[in-house]
Amino acid sequence: MKFFIETIGCQMNVNDSDKITDYLLISGLEQTNDMPEADLVILNTCSVRFSAEHKAYSFLGRIGEQKEKNPNLIVGIVGCMAQYAHKEIKRRCKFVDFVLGAKEIDKFADAVSKFINTEYVISAKRQVGVFQYVTIMRGCQNFCSYCIVPYVRGPEISIGVDEILNEITGYAEQGVKEIILLGQNVNSYNYHGTNLTELSQKVSKIDGIKRIRFMTNHPKDFSDDLIDEIAVNDKICKHIHLPLQSASEAVLSRMNRKYTYENYKLLIDKIRNKIPKINITSDIIIGFPGETDKDFQNTLKASKDLKFGGLFIFKYSPRPNTKAYKFQDNVLLGTKKERHSILLDQSMDISKKLNEQYINRTEEVLVDAYVDGVCESRNSQNIKIFFNSDNNMTGQIVNVKINKAFANSMFGDMCEY
Ligand code: 5AD
Ligand code: SF4
Repeated sequence: MKFFIETIGCQMNVNDSDKITDYLLISGLEQTNDMPEADLVILNTCSVRFSAEHKAYSFLGRIGEQKEKNPNLIVGIVGCMAQYAHKEIKRRCKFVDFVLGAKEIDKFADAVSKFINTEYVISAKRQVGVFQYVTIMRGCQNFCSYCIVPYVRGPEISIGVDEILNEITGYAEQGVKEIILLGQNVNSYNYHGTNLTELSQKVSKIDGIKRIRFMTNHPKDFSDDLIDEIAVNDKICKHIHLPLQSASEAVLSRMNRKYTYENYKLLIDKIRNKIPKINITSDIIIGFPGETDKDFQNTLKASKDLKFGGLFIFKYSPRPNTKAYKFQDNVLLGTKKERHSILLDQSMDISKKLNEQYINRTEEVLVDAYVDGVCESRNSQNIKIFFNSDNNMTGQIVNVKINKAFANSMFGDMCEY
């Protein structure tokens, strides 16, 4: 039997799909990247913005056509949209065999076993890459007013220290070099008193692990001891993704982010003082209900002052159940698009200028992939760096002298040893 899995959404979903893949492989199924070949199709869905749901329904349309050609095809829909819209999915897509929400992902084995016979195959394993996401926390209870995540993933739970360390040790033995510790708010990790700083110290002692990253940080919980640890621990990468969302105090308060722009700025100053080489990236939501032109100008100015290395900019999308769903979505789509493009242009300019400072500098990079004679790698700051090579250097750490810089990537030459 062959299975096909499609994943929409964040790294948390990618990680859940990895777990599902691991399970199906040890259950004797074979993975295919070609949907028409599959006997089982799994779609892992996202609900963070309306556009993600739209994407899921169009993919479901394709699956439906496939099921007409192959009535024996088993179809499972999992993830965040499956959590809160399971009735709607079943109503619109009668061909779906099972729907399993993000909160119930641990019941995947039970759900799928009703439709397929599984046998335990010890030798089958997912091919791991250079880096691997490892979930250290599930759920979120911050209830930012625009966000559906707390409703679809439930309250925050920290995963046990030993469980995390065992999982990472297994990956290290298979050749993984970089671990990304994953959670909606990794800064509030706490397992019987062990916090993120202590967890990172333990991870950095695992043989074979060369780099550690975090995803995602919340400004309200970023502790001084973590800043100090990032500063002194060579294995922790000098990149922090720290979503700001808006620089307007009024908007931040309506978003229920629990920090002010002033607090955020002080945090950034403190981080930069202690870790001069740090690259800070961020998320911004454009067109939150009631966002005035003045609010937007504040965000635009702040994004310049704070010199973000990169920005993910999202147009506000009203989500059912959330507090902001009751606010009027009163920023016109045209205005959202305009603000989005102004901020994006500025952000690309800033990133390019920051990256140009790397020209003629030598960067230590970890190679992720080798495609057509080109090594794709990243430095500690998480900037993508390409260089030509006769050899596939995937998984190795090498020095590259940068000669060209763009907003989202840089190019260079590998230094001889
Ligand atoms: N509309 C637009 N963007 C959103 N995000 C979360 N919820 C919404 C929403 N309803 C963005 C936030 C978050 C990122 C992962 O997605 O910026 O940091
Ligand atoms: Fe959503 Fe806020 Fe939780 Fe992030 S911290 S997942 S934005 S509620």
